[in-house]
Amino acid sequence: MEPVKIGLLGLGTVGGGTVSVLTGNAEEIARRAGREIRIAHAAARDYDASRIPGLERIDTIGDDAFAVVDDPDIDIVIELIGGYSPARELVLKAIENGKHVVTANKALIALHGNEIFAAAQAKGVTVAFEAAVAGGIPIIKALREGLAANHVEWIAGIINGTGNFILTEMRDKGRAFAEVLAEAQQLGYAEADPTFDVEGIDAAHKLTILGSLAFGIPLQFDKTFTEGISKIEPQDVAYAAEFGYRIKHLGIARRTAAGIELRVHPTLIPQRRLIANVDGVMNAVLVKCDAVGPTLYYGAGAGALPTASAVVADVIDIARALTSDPNNRVPHLAFQPDELTDTPVLPIEAVETAYYLRLTALDRSGVMAAIAGILGEEGISIEAIKQKEPGEGDTHVSLIMLTHRVTEGDMNRAMARIEALEAVQGPVARIRMESLEG
Ligand code: HSE
Repeated sequence: MEPVKIGLLGLGTVGGGTVSVLTGNAEEIARRAGREIRIAHAAARDYDASRIPGLERIDTIGDDAFAVVDDPDIDIVIELIGGYSPARELVLKAIENGKHVVTANKALIALHGNEIFAAAQAKGVTVAFEAAVAGGIPIIKALREGLAANHVEWIAGIINGTGNFILTEMRDKGRAFAEVLAEAQQLGYAEADPTFDVEGIDAAHKLTILGSLAFGIPLQFDKTFTEGISKIEPQDVAYAAEFGYRIKHLGIARRTAAGIELRVHPTLIPQRRLIANVDGVMNAVLVKCDAVGPTLYYGAGAGALPTASAVVADVIDIARALTSDPNNRVPHLAFQPDELTDTPVLPIEAVETAYYLRLTALDRSGVMAAIAGILGEEGISIEAIKQKEPGEGDTHVSLIMLTHRVTEGDMNRAMARIEALEAVQGPVARIRMESLEG
């Protein structure tokens, strides 16, 4: 049988890893795919040939990505350039040319996936994107296939390795934020624009995709609530630990009666949960389903070889499906395209969580009663309170409170009233809490 011919766009970290895996494991991959898989044409502007084992086995390497997608010999285009443009134009052109596409580009899928999948559906080709979420962890395959019998209730994921690395180092070693970020950049984990990591945009791209796969809704990145980790202070990490919690930057997708929650934010979770112990650059996704219960997927969420593992698995899937009826392939967003629903994605004000609150107040009688009174009037029940000892000569103290579940809108109102108290200094720090009970 003729080999399957690959057109590869990009020879950076993931592109280099993909060449290494496809050439290094070629024999075993061919046994699995049923066909030899050959990189026939690659395009890249800059690359370091000495760092890419197997590069010599690519038939043609140029610098024109459009020449690759227009090459009539190519069966599958692998897009590893990243970013929105020209990635979007290249992918749409490859589809128009009748080629299957594999991409690791989460930003592209989260923002332009609806358009791309519609084009692919019309043309009868596949766009595969396992590497776009949690790198090497096969979470997309799990949601689309392994868990297909279930009603998914919620997903909670550590889906940005850089952010998790920073929070872990802050907790364990008290290292400075900027220094840890620089290390993640050096290791090739961070995004080209690292604010995508620390402000939660990268995680929001991935959560948008997971939400669609779990609940059968179109991709809606603009409705995903996003809060980063840059405002987390070392004292919050320490106080959370005193209450038996860890702060993790989670992407949470949950189905409620009113609609779907899609939110990325720092979250207090009980330290006894397995996912609370996922540290460093590792990723993990906890999926709660009705039939199977909770399942946890753990592994490397970034890096050359782990991400290449997901890219090449997609290539093998497509190679296996090349002979099957296009209408019987696994649907892009897990549900049949005409079965996607318009269940609303909820605004953050309608989302209900428990809260960790930290505030600074005058150390004088009646202050705690006034704060507790406001919470009571707003229907917010307190689970635990701690007052830290004032330092020598300090007139103010830190108050830390854990609350029961309440909507964000009610909490916003209570926080505004507390901040307006004359005895309270500065803003109230708030971190959402989830018990993640199976
Ligand atoms: N910047 C991402 C991370 C890379 O740190 O997880 C993988 O998407």
